[in-house]
Amino acid sequence: MTLMKNVLALRQKKAIVEKGGGDKAIEKQIAMGKMTARDRILAIVDAGSFHEYDLFVQHEERNFGMEGKVLAGDGVITGTGMINGSPVCIYAQDFTVMGGSLGLKHARKITKIMDHALKLKIPCIGINDSGGARIQEGIGALAGYGEIFYRNTMASGVIPQISVILGPCAGGAVYSPALTDFVFVVENISKMFITGPNVIETVLGEKISQEDLGGARVHAEITGNAHFYALSEQECFDQIKNLISLIPHNNEQKAKAIAPKKPKAKKDIEKIIPTNPKHPYDVRDIIHALTDDSYFLEVHELWAANIVVGFGRMDGETVGFVANQPMYLAGCLDCDSSDKAARFIRFCDAFNIPIVTLEDMPGYLPGVDQEHAGVIRHGAKVLYAYSEATVPKITVILRKAYGGGYIAMNSRHLGADFTFAWPSAEIAVMGPEGAANIIFRKEIMEAENEEAMREQKVQEYIEKFANPYVAASKGYIDAVIEPSETRELLLHALKISKNKEDFRPEKKHGIPPF
Ligand code: HXC
Repeated sequence: MTLMKNVLALRQKKAIVEKGGGDKAIEKQIAMGKMTARDRILAIVDAGSFHEYDLFVQHEERNFGMEGKVLAGDGVITGTGMINGSPVCIYAQDFTVMGGSLGLKHARKITKIMDHALKLKIPCIGINDSGGARIQEGIGALAGYGEIFYRNTMASGVIPQISVILGPCAGGAVYSPALTDFVFVVENISKMFITGPNVIETVLGEKISQEDLGGARVHAEITGNAHFYALSEQECFDQIKNLISLIPHNNEQKAKAIAPKKPKAKKDIEKIIPTNPKHPYDVRDIIHALTDDSYFLEVHELWAANIVVGFGRMDGETVGFVANQPMYLAGCLDCDSSDKAARFIRFCDAFNIPIVTLEDMPGYLPGVDQEHAGVIRHGAKVLYAYSEATVPKITVILRKAYGGGYIAMNSRHLGADFTFAWPSAEIAVMGPEGAANIIFRKEIMEAENEEAMREQKVQEYIEKFANPYVAASKGYIDAVIEPSETRELLLHALKISKNKEDFRPEKKHGIPPF
């Protein structure tokens, strides 16, 4: 055979494999409102940049009718490509091939591309659309999952790992996404659960739909397993591209800087906080007033809304924002918001992204529910994450900073590099009402007019303690600043912190309150 004939034969072989599970299965996939695995990869990476490997890998199973059965790519497509010019490793399970089920060879294709990602020090993106462990392969499939989980753990904190759930993700399959840094879901398409509805019905006698059990909204709003929620696959791919452009390739690099821009937010930063200190506002308006182009990519937008976390840019460089959200639960820290903040802080710290904290909260959320749900353990994660982080850490106290909240939200005492406070800041052990009721209880009870005395004592407390000047007089606050100065001061603090080095005692690893 001439070389040209060989080339033509290769093209034919490739064309057959690239058809995945064949026309009928592809039609079914599209009828479900889903893109094919190959189209998904091509829609995520830059045009012409995708290079596929292991196209001809095949399973070696002989049992349960598998002997001689050819599975295109063994049900998964793996390769490398570029996203907005940044290199990535990527894989996509192909549901048209035996439900994208995971056998040993399928898993080995995935672990090979993960190994590449770790050696090349570039992000790894996994698109999950699979019925889980390939039932015919039994232990081979379980071994495959275990090898993936091991690599997820080894790569954690070294390269960014992204999971995209674009179909079912059942049984052990959910644990690889759970070990990665960011999980993306799409309305009506993503399903994640340990145990499917059929098993639940058999074992527990309860009927529940896949959507209600583990659909996109369930994970974006209730469980917090998903960090990004989209209404369509295309919207999801745009979110992935935005995220990749904001984070570095690995833990030794910084995120790529772009040309600086001024904020374009319409709201005047001085006017965002209401005059009545008890009234709420949207802290995202303040973030928009601070970031370049007022851009902010919010992470976990729908979950634990009492804290806001996400990425923006200042002077062209990526910054992580952690901000109490007074619109929900007065911005209190509870179990979920503590988990959300701590995880985000640890990602920023692992990947050299400075953290700006905006504080306005009355403390940890009180109550039996929270105590029994473990707010002590969960809340401790925030203390741990901030204390452990060595990236530049800057805090701006906007309004309330009471009690544990004051300490937890990146206070000087946990290692903040710079702490600023607006003149509206109230820094105290607790809110003025609670404090006055306790320390002036006797005077209030003995007064002729209890209410008037209570009000007088609350005012006394506010004047003496609920302001930024007591903390500033002790050096815990570096400067009391006007709201309009905030961006300039943050830009300066970030600029002079670029070469920050912070040392920690040698240890194998810490033991965070997981
Ligand atoms: C082998 C599978 C499969 C699997 C689906 N298929 N899942 N083959 N192993 N796990 C095949 C189907 O037989 C079918 O083949 C094709 O894929 C499409 O599946 P359908 O059922 O027709 O699709 P749909 O109706 O959309 O339902 C999708 C589904 C359902 C909800 C995912 O297939 C399902 O419940 N699958 C089993 C899920 C599961 O319990 N997995 C094991 C989890 S245990 P044909 O030839 O008919 O087209 C696990 C343990 C791992 O993962 C532990 C690691 C720690």
